[in-house]
Amino acid sequence: MHLIYALTAMVSLLSGVIARVDAWVDLGIDINQPMEAGDNFFDDFVSDPFRAKRKDGSEGLEEFTPISATIGQSEIQYFSFNVNTSSGIGSYYEYLIFITGNICSQPANLTEDDPSLTVYYSFNGSMFQNLELGDMDYFSSGYFQALADVPATSNVNAVLYIAVQAPENTDASAVWSYEMGVSQNDLVFQWDDRSWASLVDTDEISALIVTGNLSDSSGFDSSDYNISHSRYSLFIYSHQYKDYFRVLNNSWCAIRSGPALFSSDSDPDLFESSFTTRGGGWQQQFYVGGLNKSTQYIAYLISDFSGRDFGGAVYQPFEFKTMDSGACNLIYDLDFCDQVAYSVPNSDAYSKEELKSLFDDRARSLYANFSRVMQQIPCDESDVSAFSPFRTCDDCADSYKNWLCAVTIPRCSTRNITGYRETEPGDSRNSWINDVLDPDLMYYEMLPCLNVCEAIVRDCPAELGFGCPNFNRTVLSYYWEDPDEEYPTCNFVGKTATTKSAAPPRYLVNYALAFATVLVLALL
Ligand SMILES: *[C@@H]1O[C@H](CO)[C@@H](O)[C@H](O)[C@H]1NC(C)=O
Ligand SMILES: *[C@@H]1O[C@H](CO)[C@@H](O)[C@H](O)[C@H]1NC(C)=O
Ligand SMILES: *[C@@H]1O[C@H](CO)[C@@H](O)[C@H](O)[C@H]1NC(C)=O
Ligand SMILES: *[C@@H]1O[C@H](CO)[C@@H](O)[C@H](O)[C@H]1NC(C)=O
Ligand SMILES: *[C@@H]1O[C@H](CO)[C@@H](O)[C@H](O)[C@H]1NC(C)=O
Ligand SMILES: *[C@@H]1O[C@H](CO)[C@@H](O)[C@H](O)[C@H]1NC(C)=O
Ligand SMILES: *[C@@H]1O[C@H](CO)[C@@H](O)[C@H](O)[C@H]1NC(C)=O
Ligand SMILES: *[C@@H]1O[C@H](CO)[C@@H](O)[C@H](O)[C@H]1NC(C)=O
Ligand SMILES: *[C@@H]1O[C@H](CO)[C@@H](O)[C@H](O)[C@H]1NC(C)=O
Ligand SMILES: *[C@@H]1O[C@H](CO)[C@@H](O)[C@H](O)[C@H]1NC(C)=O
Repeated sequence: MHLIYALTAMVSLLSGVIARVDAWVDLGIDINQPMEAGDNFFDDFVSDPFRAKRKDGSEGLEEFTPISATIGQSEIQYFSFNVNTSSGIGSYYEYLIFITGNICSQPANLTEDDPSLTVYYSFNGSMFQNLELGDMDYFSSGYFQALADVPATSNVNAVLYIAVQAPENTDASAVWSYEMGVSQNDLVFQWDDRSWASLVDTDEISALIVTGNLSDSSGFDSSDYNISHSRYSLFIYSHQYKDYFRVLNNSWCAIRSGPALFSSDSDPDLFESSFTTRGGGWQQQFYVGGLNKSTQYIAYLISDFSGRDFGGAVYQPFEFKTMDSGACNLIYDLDFCDQVAYSVPNSDAYSKEELKSLFDDRARSLYANFSRVMQQIPCDESDVSAFSPFRTCDDCADSYKNWLCAVTIPRCSTRNITGYRETEPGDSRNSWINDVLDPDLMYYEMLPCLNVCEAIVRDCPAELGFGCPNFNRTVLSYYWEDPDEEYPTCNFVGKTATTKSAAPPRYLVNYALAFATVLVLALL
């Protein structure tokens, strides 16, 4: 039988005792002042909202199964967890138990300086009579974590007792909702203050967002390449909620249950999500439409351990702004120009799909002559005939293709940023754009980065005779070299750009966990 009791302060006041007798007896725990009450006592006095329940409606704290509860100001709620002595992390002389919690919502006007929920925990059941017997810690930024260890010899039936106490509040109806998760194996709730998703580009009504490198993580295997098994969800919030999570920003639950405009979890139809290897390595991308123009949004990437009900991790959010007009149209996942994912000049005459293939086919046909030339150059045959010991013909072909895609498919913006070329309809540098595409609106062209061109010179045999224009770099920044700029200064197409928001490629290893691991090591 699993024990979990969530009693209101009212019940404690009325009875002076804490829990139902029969359950305590089951566990053989000494209760100094057993309460003489019928079996219905608990049900009669504890109203449903104040009783901690698992999401499936059953009660009890189980391994890696968080419990949701709502607590009023000054209330105390009680939980217990039976330690499983045949599983989990630990050593021959002790068991380790990870306790984590998330505040999902709290009274709106609380600040960082206000007291948050307090958690007491102990292996001694007497703690429920006297909380001071337990260890104590607070929620902070909506997050709680603690590591409890019990000597393996002490008690075969070790039980971890947990009490959660809400602070006093001048508003008697103030309530917090929270989740507590206990595990002998890992932290049920986690957070990571690095941003692990980044914006690829936007147009007037949509945005493309991509995660970090998934293939870098040991936890990512081929079965994960099925998008329906993805653990990541993206939540888009209106910018007016910028400060909404300021005090709960480490809480997965708060982000998940907050007033998001939409999320890939609850509105999968509004998102196109897939895996991509653009830029090297596997990433998950989210294309979201239905946005308003010239509007700022906040995006939160979260990861779930197993859907909504078993905890997860939250990463640092990022902001983005949609473009000001329909002059640009965001395209990605091109068949030939597979490294292209950005907004291109729009034309009302073409749909997004038509635009995509129009550009892609154009680049493919231009490439055809290059591959004919390449076939006449001895490549990859032997070390002697290869043009460079470090570069192969594939490198050359790749670099040429990326450069060709970058110059054939102009990157479009509605922002007037130094270095962007203002382009009126009919005034493109590229006559094919004027004649075939015939854009309707003025846009700014983000010119290709010089290093996209320099890659060809570096990777291709000299006999192909490539050279790059010698730009005056103080005037035009054709390099992707200023990571502090809010917007890119030139258009990079290829695999090795350092994009400004690329976070370290790690996966679900967070500071919280690292912290716990250090603790574990210290304890062992
Ligand atoms: C304890 O853990 C073992 C190994 O994971 C598992 O087989 C067993 O069912 C668990 N016992 C309980 C009571 O959950
Ligand atoms: C629990 O705490 C009480 C009060 O400090 C103490 O008397 C009792 O021995 C403790 N029980 C165990 C099993 O340690
Ligand atoms: C918070 O708001 C409630 C009602 O909205 C109010 O009663 C209470 O005094 C406020 N508390 C603080 C600290 O401002
Ligand atoms: C939440 O805010 C705190 C304090 O500002 C900060 O230290 C922490 O890194 C933030 N967490 C995330 C996930 O960004
Ligand atoms: C992906 O997973 C879903 C659900 O498990 C399954 O129905 C589908 O066949 C899988 N797709 C592939 C390509 O394996
Ligand atoms: C992503 O991870 C893979 C596998 O570890 C690695 O080969 C690749 O270079 C990484 N890509 C990036 C952009 O870091
Ligand atoms: C777009 O703007 C309208 C009107 O201001 C607003 O009702 C709607 O929620 C906004 N939608 C998004 C996705 O921002
Ligand atoms: C490809 O080469 C042929 C023959 O040299 C030439 O006629 C044709 O215009 C070239 N195509 C492109 C797209 O440059
Ligand atoms: C764009 O910015 C430049 C430099 O700030 C300015 O000279 C130019 O007039 C601007 N163009 C438009 C259309 O606002
Ligand atoms: C680059 O342009 C700036 C500003 O027009 C000029 O002062 C400078 O001499 C130019 N540098 C070179 C190397 O041409």
